Amino acid sequence: MHVTKYLLEESQLPRRWYNIRADMPNPPQPVLHPGTGQPVGPDDLAPLFPMELILQEVSEEPEVAIPDEVLEIYRLWRPTPLYRARRLEQAAGTRSRIFYKYEGVSPPGSHKPNTAVAQAFYNQREGRTRLATETGAGQWGSALAFACQLLGLECKVYMVRISYDQKPFRRSLIQAWGATIVPSPSEDTESGRAMLAESPDSPGSLGMAISEAVEDAAGREDTAYSLGSVLNHVLLHQTVIGQEALAQMELAGAFPDVVVGCVGGGSNFAGLAFPFLREKIAGRDIDVLACEPSACPTLTRGLFAYDFGDTSKLTPLVAMHTLGHDFVPQPIHAGGLRYHGVAPLISQLVRDGLIRADAYAQNDIFASAVLFARSEGIIPAPESAHAIHGALESARAADEAGEERTILFNLSGHGHFDMAAYDNYFAGKLVDVALDEEEIQRALRAIDGLPVPA
Ligand SMILES: Cc1ncc(COP(=O)(O)O)c(C=O)c1O
Repeated sequence: MHVTKYLLEESQLPRRWYNIRADMPNPPQPVLHPGTGQPVGPDDLAPLFPMELILQEVSEEPEVAIPDEVLEIYRLWRPTPLYRARRLEQAAGTRSRIFYKYEGVSPPGSHKPNTAVAQAFYNQREGRTRLATETGAGQWGSALAFACQLLGLECKVYMVRISYDQKPFRRSLIQAWGATIVPSPSEDTESGRAMLAESPDSPGSLGMAISEAVEDAAGREDTAYSLGSVLNHVLLHQTVIGQEALAQMELAGAFPDVVVGCVGGGSNFAGLAFPFLREKIAGRDIDVLACEPSACPTLTRGLFAYDFGDTSKLTPLVAMHTLGHDFVPQPIHAGGLRYHGVAPLISQLVRDGLIRADAYAQNDIFASAVLFARSEGIIPAPESAHAIHGALESARAADEAGEERTILFNLSGHGHFDMAAYDNYFAGKLVDVALDEEEIQRALRAIDGLPVPA
């Protein structure tokens, strides 16, 4: 009998998060204060984040203990299953073995609560009573609303307008978990009002919504800011995914030749890939593939440069792959992948050749999503469909080379709230955005004059 799912006991939940900084051949560049150009210190970040998260942000310890209170909440859905995608292998006609880790079993339906719960916990322990955040597709907003509800915090979510209009049920979910939500740009902040004055019909972007949430948190003593991706501590919290997957691949008697994830800010990709990159840095041969949309090709066509994390230039400067902080991606359906930057840890690892990146058009990723849904049953989130497509492309390349590879990808969430996107795909209405070089060069002018990475 074939085994389909590899499951761990609750007692096998990882007790520590893995910090890749300790093993990186080259450390990430320092985060800079935009006013002084000097590295930011813990005190600069204290108005926005609790001290424990600031310390995790700069920690060089290889492992960080997961608090018992966080583990207790993780147990509501973790450990998550790892599947062997036999039916997908058959449908694709590949000789390679495909495995996937499924994060859609969490209550909000994605990997996002792995960090939302940790962030809400540290904020509550240090006396904050309210969190402000942005959300693209609504996955992060719903995860933070869920975490705040469980830990007794208030939560305000600035949701990118295009998603607010396209995904009314993610909105409802956020409200069901007790958070307050407004479309961004909104009238609730100075930066929102300025953006509306300039562009009243703006579809919004993650960069704009971040500006609003940061301004909200900076202006109130009781409120901290919470980010669902990009930052080191967020990627750290996600490493429970890859640690579980390592144990589950061992149960399957296999080890991946290829590890694949989709990249918006980079957190689900890092969550799966970093524990495997630890093995790669120690000498194992693994192809680690980051998949992004061709409409927002940060890793494949962006520059490695210092840039702001948001549109209104309120955040510190970070060295990362970027398309420029005022780049507004086309409104593709993978809302969570519409971000101009990517995590500095991932950018550095791409720069060092430890991770490679590829970009895909939305009709192609939906074709792969539908093939997956019709073989494995699960309806994937459009973001996660990029990873499915990357895995299938890797399998195709292996077949062409006459090789059999073991491929592992992260299915970061389900797409139950993305059915309008599927409707558009079936109706032949999805447009593949061809982003011309001129637009990229225009947007990159926004970083002229900023410090240059070493
Ligand atoms: C299901 C899903 N996958 C992936 C992402 C992209 O974010 P990240 O790159 O931080 O994993 C999102 C973001 O909203 C998401 O909802």
